Amino acid sequence: MKRIGVFTSGGDSPGMNAAVRAVVRTAIYREIEVWGIYYGYKGMINGQLERLNSRSVGNIIQRGGTILKSARSKEFMEKAGRKKAFENLKKHEIDGIVAIGGNGTFTGAQLFFEEFGIPTVGMPGTIDNDLYGTDFTIGYDTAVNTALQAVDKIRDTADSHDRIFFIELMGRDSGYITMYTAIAGGAELAMVPETKTSIAEVVETLVSSQKKGKASSIIIVAEGDEEGNALEVIEKVKKAMPAPCPMRVAILGHIQRGGAPSAADRILASRLGVAAVDGLLSGKQSCMAGIINNQIVYTPFADCISKQKNWPEDLNNMIQVLSI
Ligand code: F6P
Repeated sequence: MKRIGVFTSGGDSPGMNAAVRAVVRTAIYREIEVWGIYYGYKGMINGQLERLNSRSVGNIIQRGGTILKSARSKEFMEKAGRKKAFENLKKHEIDGIVAIGGNGTFTGAQLFFEEFGIPTVGMPGTIDNDLYGTDFTIGYDTAVNTALQAVDKIRDTADSHDRIFFIELMGRDSGYITMYTAIAGGAELAMVPETKTSIAEVVETLVSSQKKGKASSIIIVAEGDEEGNALEVIEKVKKAMPAPCPMRVAILGHIQRGGAPSAADRILASRLGVAAVDGLLSGKQSCMAGIINNQIVYTPFADCISKQKNWPEDLNNMIQVLSI
């Protein structure tokens, strides 16, 4: 292997830059040429590639977002798009790829490898933490810390006004950000797509909190909860409460995707960047580098995209115990 490409794809996450830096510098250290592919699969199709050197990735370890930009490409989902992408890689004599992203990125990478055989090693870059094959994804820790800062602030105003707050956090299909933020933020309840929480349970929690003398309460709702988003949940709860009480919604949105990566995310990104390049050089072909129990593990893309990480059921109960 003489020349590799690296790209970021799907929703960006804090730490992607640290990941790109680690890939570029490890490759150069191992005397491999490295090219940045801009805008993920979209740029691969459009030929937006540029050779990178050690200085191209200087002063980015602390920056959120991704210097390589990111996109979700519909064209790459078609065989014709993937063929164009392959031709561009061939033209640039790229013989290995590091793909940084989430589920969608690896679904594309697996197909691409099956069709065109370019070895690809992935790195888990998503705030959602929903990838099988790694304990944590790059960006998750930062997103939780960002959400937590917001929850702490909302708690102040909730307390001053004796209000109930429904705080919506990101995660269309994943409740990890919600669950961790709820624990760290001392919330009364976390509503996540992985487990069912009925409106009756929410009402019961709020009523019992009031009986115990709590003047304000915080419920964290993942955007993909089956009862709906926070705006839908609040309407249902208002109708079901035995007596009206002041309630508000706060939706954090894309704030969770930005900001300087935490130390944990920078370290994770750095370790996985080295592992991704070394994996490629040792013959790994269609898998993701992750860390499980502090050990580097390579998991086939097929498993990363089809298998579900074990949801930590005990954490739901813990929130209830700790919020009595
Ligand atoms: O996958 C990361 C994520 O931030 C999800 O939590 C969220 O549902 C989605 O991306 C939002 O995507 P977009 O930025 O395209 O609106």
